[in-house]
Amino acid sequence: MTALPTISSTPDGVTIEPRNRKFDLQKALATDWMENDPFLTAVFNAMSMSFPSGEKKFIDSIRHFEDRITDPKLLKEIRGFYQQEGIHSREHRRYNKVLCDQRGYDHDKMEGVYLDIIAKAESKPEVTPEVQLASTLAIEHFTASMAEIMLDGDYMDNAEATIKELWLWHGVEEMEHKSVAFDVFSQIGGSSKMRTTVMKYSIMILLRNVMKVALKMLHHDKQLWKWKTFKSMTHFFFGKTGFVRLYLPAHKDYFREDFHPWDADSKGLIQQWQDAQDMPLAAA
Ligand SMILES: [Fe+2]
Ligand SMILES: [Fe+2]
Repeated sequence: MTALPTISSTPDGVTIEPRNRKFDLQKALATDWMENDPFLTAVFNAMSMSFPSGEKKFIDSIRHFEDRITDPKLLKEIRGFYQQEGIHSREHRRYNKVLCDQRGYDHDKMEGVYLDIIAKAESKPEVTPEVQLASTLAIEHFTASMAEIMLDGDYMDNAEATIKELWLWHGVEEMEHKSVAFDVFSQIGGSSKMRTTVMKYSIMILLRNVMKVALKMLHHDKQLWKWKTFKSMTHFFFGKTGFVRLYLPAHKDYFREDFHPWDADSKGLIQQWQDAQDMPLAAA
């Protein structure tokens, strides 16, 4: 196969290196750690449940095209991407196991929701390796935009401290590597039409399944049919400062033909978080 020339678009000053962090979440996960709100806590916990299988899928979808990349900078960033996502998976798997032990959720059933959608997608002939890569960059845009919301402003101010630290650490690394899948997709000649079409399906499937898992958790906790849950859910979807409304501008942006992940300049947020850390970067 002929190797194509490639150029990384990760800006100068941003490095993609894993920080090998470990979090002690035993105590916090037994509580409604996000604003003492069962609904928001369940949504974030349901999202955590998607990461081990999802992030493995992201790595595989890029690895499939790795031999077509020649740019040493992008190759180094791809390696950093694998390492960052690998550690995220490890920490979220621990998070998910502790959560299920604490609350009595069936781990295999909860994670099974996401494993099933991946298996179902892979069984369809139209879901080619290119489409799988396009889905990775769609979800990478979602996670990087989510990170920007979490790190910019007060969204996580009332979250329990240790779990907040985990989500912000994960978020910063999502911002750092947000253009890696995009660059690989560009270099294999991925079209804007495929990118945007796949986003429509990917985001719908992801959000529908995150909600499915969150509702299972709330049902198990006997919190589903509560006024407080309904109120929080309404705010989450329709409130001016609800997550969905906060995410919408970034989502719309993705449908511009000349969209690029670094149109939203995250360098300031990354630096701000890094400055607040009293920890050297782990060796790659
Ligand atoms: Fe990640
Ligand atoms: Fe990522």
